[in-house]
Amino acid sequence: MLNVPQKSLADGKILQGVADGVGIITFNNPDKRNAMSLEMWEGFGQALTDLRDDPDVRVVVLAGGEKAFVSGADISQFEKVRHNAEASEEYSRRSADHRALLADYPKPTIACIRGFCLGGGMQIAMLADIRISSLSGQFGIPAAKLGIAYGYDGLRHLVSLVGPSWARLIMYTGMRIDSAEALRIGLVDRVLPDAELWDATMEIARTIAGNAPLAIKAAKITIAQVLKDPADRDMPAIRQIGIDCMDSEDFREGRRAFMEKRKPDFKGR
Ligand code: COA
Repeated sequence: MLNVPQKSLADGKILQGVADGVGIITFNNPDKRNAMSLEMWEGFGQALTDLRDDPDVRVVVLAGGEKAFVSGADISQFEKVRHNAEASEEYSRRSADHRALLADYPKPTIACIRGFCLGGGMQIAMLADIRISSLSGQFGIPAAKLGIAYGYDGLRHLVSLVGPSWARLIMYTGMRIDSAEALRIGLVDRVLPDAELWDATMEIARTIAGNAPLAIKAAKITIAQVLKDPADRDMPAIRQIGIDCMDSEDFREGRRAFMEKRKPDFKGR
């Protein structure tokens, strides 16, 4: 999929690369259908941090393999590290920081999904700003089949995407749904044939990378605030990013480029 040098993290189970201003993180443990071990969470967090701090990166794509995006947490680690409430709290704490990094990510993120997207994989996909799936996408949260409580953050995102009724159906049954149903209920935004998924995702990512970063940041911040309870909304942050945008060099460049009938060259300031 990606023809650029890639950095290897978590023993090669997480890969990180950059192409045309697009950061790409690949979950790469196909033998286990990309089940997330704690080591993979750490590698994922490291990749997110590197790409966040790379000024050349304007958008980040999260991708899996052919058979799976991410098949959830690595259940084989549960007996040792997640066998009761106390251990589970410690386990969640170790992955929570990395999830928080994605939840509060300052750059746009896109999940590019093929195959299984289950449990913790759904959590990663739902934390991304946009979800694009191939026809092979299979979605589900089998927490009820394992006896796991899925937690507030995961369910908050599920409910905001698909509504409470579908969230209940998904959670109570642990059923898997295909890409067509996922599209219909709003869990994913677009579905493409497998062979077209990567190019279509990269086209969207490159379009985002070519747009004005501050305008995208304004949209990202404002939409995140819209999703909060009114009392918790940070209205000053929305006002500030509005000021930053309208006073920016990029707004001047955007106006000029339009009048001069050329492509704008945005700098993010
Ligand atoms: N944790 C640990 N190992 C996993 C895993 C997970 N979440 N998902 C898959 N694997 C492992 C399987 O144990 C198997 O290992 P093995 O080759 O040593 O036997 C390997 O990955 C391939 O899985 P398999 O079930 O043979 O492939 P499949 O294509 O028939 O089915 C899944 C794939 C993902 C549907 C199935 O493995 C599955 O249901 N996994 C669990 C999903 C889950 O409950 N996730 C939520 C966790 S909180």
